Amino acid sequence: MTCGRSRKDFQPTLSITLEVTSANDVVITSLFLIRLRRTSDGRDGRTKGVYAHTNYAGQRMSGRDEYYNKAKQQGYRSRSAYKLQQLDDTADLIAPGDTVIDLGAAPGGWLQVAAERASEGRVVGVDRQRIESIDDVETIRGDLTEDDTQAKIGERVGQADLVLSDMAPNMTGEYNLDHARSIHLARQALDVARTVLAPGGDLVVKVFDGRDLDDLEADIEEEFEYVRTVRPDASRDESSELFLVGKGRMTAPVGVGDELAVGITDTGDEGDGIAKVDDYTLFVADTEAGEEVRIRVEDVKPRFGFAERIE
Ligand SMILES: C[S@@+](CC[C@H](N)C(=O)[O-])C[C@H]1O[C@@H](n2cnc3c(N)ncnc32)[C@H](O)[C@@H]1O
Repeated sequence: MTCGRSRKDFQPTLSITLEVTSANDVVITSLFLIRLRRTSDGRDGRTKGVYAHTNYAGQRMSGRDEYYNKAKQQGYRSRSAYKLQQLDDTADLIAPGDTVIDLGAAPGGWLQVAAERASEGRVVGVDRQRIESIDDVETIRGDLTEDDTQAKIGERVGQADLVLSDMAPNMTGEYNLDHARSIHLARQALDVARTVLAPGGDLVVKVFDGRDLDDLEADIEEEFEYVRTVRPDASRDESSELFLVGKGRMTAPVGVGDELAVGITDTGDEGDGIAKVDDYTLFVADTEAGEEVRIRVEDVKPRFGFAERIE
């Protein structure tokens, strides 16, 4: 993209070449300034000619920062790749063998990192834009705000260990609107997580900070063991973006304090009795297989919980 301004002789002429390198990065690849200055004969002030110009052609300007350059050197498709590396290093998200779904995945920096770290696992990228193929990565093209796309993910993937969303709205520059749209996209990711995320699985969503952030965080907190906020170093200093990380999806059919009658069906390694509520495992102290007991649920984890007998 070239923007030029040249009204007539003796006006400064500025030529800027912008390169759109990814959905988020617009980079000034060259800036050429010719400064034409009038000279006068020193008596009547009339112009005699042009005597100076300045050429900054080829200078790399802001945007080509440390992470941008690193991504180019290391073969990542976007500087965002480092955000996922830092999120994973901070919040322990990706393990070898995991199934990872990446929403808003184009051009694919996060997919490259996920494929490296979930080696032998399965990585699926979804975006409304085309994603150039990446080894060991599957892609789905579609708009996440449409039910069809969400249904397709459920059908294709089944169950996942991690749902990531780096989705970003088209920016309007109006802060509250951009914030609201980012929250809307994060909620689409939460919907996908409700469909595909295994018990104990994690969710990461990008949002722009703002007034609806607390409500979103509370809604995620209801369905996960805990939520944390992470601002990776690779997010630009001036950016209001942050990532909400929901750790440990909770699907337990019981809550702390619930009282119920159960049958003890087995004995755990530690000697506690085991009761099943739907498919959920409760360890019940001081019980034995074959007993029918009333219990109170004391602690609920994503994959199992603890209870005490109350009779
Ligand atoms: C910041 S970029 C993602 C960069 C990516 N994480 C990477 O590392 O290369 C945001 C992406 O979200 C996608 N996106 C935004 N809204 C979307 C929607 N409703 N459905 C699907 N993709 C969407 C955009 O097309 C864009 O590719």
